Amino acid sequence: MKDDAAARADRYDVRSILGGVRLRRNRKADWSRRLVRETTLSHNDLIWPLFVVDGDGVTDPVASMPGVNRLSIDRAVEAIRQAADMGIPAVALFPNTPASLRDERGSEALNPDNLVCRACRAIKAAVPDIGLITDVALDPYTSHGHDGLIVDGRIANDETVEILARQSVIQAAAGADVIAPSDMMDGRVGAIREALDDAALLDTQIMAYTAKYASAFYGPFRDAVGSGTMLKGDKKTYQMDPANGTEALREAELDIAEGADMVMVKPGLPYLDIVWRLKDTFGMPTFAYQVSGEYAMIAAAAAAGVLDRDTAILESLGAFRRAGADGILTYFAPDAARLLSAD
Ligand code: PBG
Repeated sequence: MKDDAAARADRYDVRSILGGVRLRRNRKADWSRRLVRETTLSHNDLIWPLFVVDGDGVTDPVASMPGVNRLSIDRAVEAIRQAADMGIPAVALFPNTPASLRDERGSEALNPDNLVCRACRAIKAAVPDIGLITDVALDPYTSHGHDGLIVDGRIANDETVEILARQSVIQAAAGADVIAPSDMMDGRVGAIREALDDAALLDTQIMAYTAKYASAFYGPFRDAVGSGTMLKGDKKTYQMDPANGTEALREAELDIAEGADMVMVKPGLPYLDIVWRLKDTFGMPTFAYQVSGEYAMIAAAAAAGVLDRDTAILESLGAFRRAGADGILTYFAPDAARLLSAD
């Protein structure tokens, strides 16, 4: 074997093949790798999505997302205080609405005292400096699990937009800094902007779920908010076809024209090409959502001992930055912030 290797080294003149260029030189030591690193990941790039439930003192594990819990408002406030202390700039809230409050029209979405609005007020009072992002869509509130109203068996776009605009104003009035419509109805960003402006909520930002795909990777999320077993059919008439990339540019064009302050791509890792294309084309503040299924895959693989959890977390989040994302919504945000502070 040794002789074979020596013979090969004779056969190929690597020095002349490379002509003096050797890319490994810059990789030879940690100091050098740090010096030539093209992108960085910091706590400032993280948005932590979390699930809230009714009650007091509740920490309810999400079975499909080991390590993620649904928290009652008091517990959420404590967790968010810690997130703020770790330098995480913003959190995104998702309510698990009690089944008894869900109906055909998602009426609870317009209750100014609903779970998410109460959570907003409590968080703003206790941790005023963290950015508060709320989800606008009807699926946590409907008995059929869809993001919009059903009229004659179809998801009715314009009727849904009316409700989403009102839902946005209610959430912003409760203290949300950023409204994040995740419903994928056409025209909702413009309608929400108009409604916020009319309510003199001129500074409330809109983070549009711009390119949100009809994805299998949302499964654990639907478990977490309790809409999974309720969902009838699929969301393919409003969420994007995973086969389409150029269409995401059209979605972005509309959202930006309608007044979006930030755009987002979802899911994350399987759609990095879309992140790159949006950032490259529009130069907007661009975010990616490492969704529940992506979390579950890494968590499950790590639990099975087939990959190193901490390294996989940082590598996956770093990949979003390399693809052009300004920040990442990730259930790993507290883990990542902890790991990055040890760096
Ligand atoms: C629904 C919504 C979903 C997610 C965020 N908002 C799921 C869906 O569209 O069914 C998914 C987030 C995740 O999987 O982590 N409005």
